[in-house]
Amino acid sequence: MSRLAIYPGTFDPITNGHLDIIERACKLFDQVIVAILVNPSKAPMFSLAERIEILNAVLNSRFPQVTVETFDGLLVDYAAKRQAQAIVRGIRAISDYEYELQMALMNRRLNPAVETVFMMSAEAYSYLSSRLVKEVFSLGGSIDGLVPDLVIKRMREKLATNKRSKA
Ligand code: PNS
Repeated sequence: MSRLAIYPGTFDPITNGHLDIIERACKLFDQVIVAILVNPSKAPMFSLAERIEILNAVLNSRFPQVTVETFDGLLVDYAAKRQAQAIVRGIRAISDYEYELQMALMNRRLNPAVETVFMMSAEAYSYLSSRLVKEVFSLGGSIDGLVPDLVIKRMREKLATNKRSKA
């Protein structure tokens, strides 16, 4: 039987920590769907269309068994619709564990057929988050090696567009 996992998230933007988890998930599952949450209540740096485009550009050539999709509503409903066996979540530090445990147990209560698999990213990414990447970048710090080069390019373009529209 082909094993399918969903790797859900906001991916605003994708970081090398996310990539590390995707690479690990590809070793365990035949197919991995990277699923972007459609969440209009958050004000993301990149629009949904931009995130889809960036994720496809970063992932398609490197991971043939990965596809990029979007979802809204309950994650477990989406996982059931896709007939996924597992939801993959990355755990960086103990601080992630409490929130992730809550989500995993709530998801299990909602649909016991979908298992959550926690994966540890490489230590080098254990402090990395999309939020910090955006903050460091917006304050002029280097994010080299923390996100794919394409993300740095797109963030620079976004900054330039924002500066132009404010000028
Ligand atoms: O990248 P993030 O922001 O940590 O991802 C969080 C995500 C998308 C996994 C979580 O917010 C989610 O699953 N949202 C979908 C709505 C849902 O199912 N909520 C109940 C979770 S117990």
